[in-house]
Amino acid sequence: MYQPSFDLAQNIKEQYSTPVAVISKPMLEEKVKAMKTAFKKNTKIFYAIKANNNPHIVNVLKNAGIDGIDTVSINEVKLAKKIGFTSDQIIYTGSSCSDSEMTDVHNEGVMLNIGSTSELARFGKIFPNTKVSIRFNPQVGDGETAAVITAGDSTKFGIKASKLDEVKQIVAEHNLIIAGIHCHIGSGFYTTEQFEKAVIRILDQAKDFANLEFIDFGGGFGVQYKKEQTPIDLNDFAASIEKHIAEFNAHNQKEIEVRLEPGKYLVMQACTTLTSVTTIKDEYAIPFVGTDTGMNHIIRPALYGSYHHVENLSKLDGEKQKVNIVGNICESDDFIAEEVEIQTPAEGDLLAVLTTGAYCPTMQSFYNLRAFLPEVLVDEDNSTTLIRKRMNFDEMINQLGFTDF
Ligand code: LLP
Repeated sequence: MYQPSFDLAQNIKEQYSTPVAVISKPMLEEKVKAMKTAFKKNTKIFYAIKANNNPHIVNVLKNAGIDGIDTVSINEVKLAKKIGFTSDQIIYTGSSCSDSEMTDVHNEGVMLNIGSTSELARFGKIFPNTKVSIRFNPQVGDGETAAVITAGDSTKFGIKASKLDEVKQIVAEHNLIIAGIHCHIGSGFYTTEQFEKAVIRILDQAKDFANLEFIDFGGGFGVQYKKEQTPIDLNDFAASIEKHIAEFNAHNQKEIEVRLEPGKYLVMQACTTLTSVTTIKDEYAIPFVGTDTGMNHIIRPALYGSYHHVENLSKLDGEKQKVNIVGNICESDDFIAEEVEIQTPAEGDLLAVLTTGAYCPTMQSFYNLRAFLPEVLVDEDNSTTLIRKRMNFDEMINQLGFTDF
């Protein structure tokens, strides 16, 4: 987990003010290397750009060796292309996809990974004789919380095995070529148990498709939120794929390309959000520590009950106190951390909210008309580059196009 020193954090605060997101370039590179090392044989890493779409960050991942980009919208496709990925290095896994978005993605030369028979039939009608990938629901899911599990009976994602005959019928009718098959069981799992079951089920379905070029097992690899937490062992995940793929390849007498789509794993731990304590409310049994960030920047605690470790950088060796750390947003759920032990905070202290690199930046909002977090990339020698500027009032308002003030 990236945690800048107090001196570096203080310099960043002086230069860019708080709240501010600070991203470690070496840690981004380290995560790509870890993935590439664990999953060697014929495995391509397609980064799930929804986790963090800052082009400066994606570019660091690109230079570190990721093979492609997993996208979910036409704008993510366009961004991936602008960053320099070619059409065949991009996959599009939309959901509830309109005909016009399918058309736009197809016209970019990007393969669609389709997760419903409705979308497959509509796509086949518009673009017969075309290569597609199919997203199946392997009926086993896993993830940090129920809200981020994307396989099983209570999810909109993927096609169930019971629809396999219908899939084959649509494919035959429109002469589609199934070039890929895919699943993604959820976000943030720590053991291989469910993942391996999904691998087995998907490989079983893959047998039915003769023209397969790749099999994609999605993302979801869990990250470390607590300092005492043991990190996942990617080698276990590699093993849980490789033995089954080896059998599959032996049966088909050719090597299939394997794809993975990590989002969180590559970017989550590399970012820390620096925030200043603005207000202490001590009339409660557990005091409220008010900060200059909030759920507009870090929505995961309010949305999923997620834990993000907070350190008081101003008093790293200080005594600890149980507190509620809250933001400056007008909502009762505006918690950064609930009932946590932290070095006794005082107004003006500089706090570090760790592991905020994935989904926090992309799920930000302008709620309460507050600007998004600026982002600062920190290099190995601690030099800093501003990679996202804080919008001022005019910039926020101008995008609404109302000029009649
Ligand atoms: N592939 C597909 C098809 C996905 O839907 C996702 C994430 C990924 C890959 C990447 O999953 P990751 O490696 O990042 O876990 N906002 C939630 C996570 C939602 C994930 C959506 N899909 C959170 O903050 O926990």
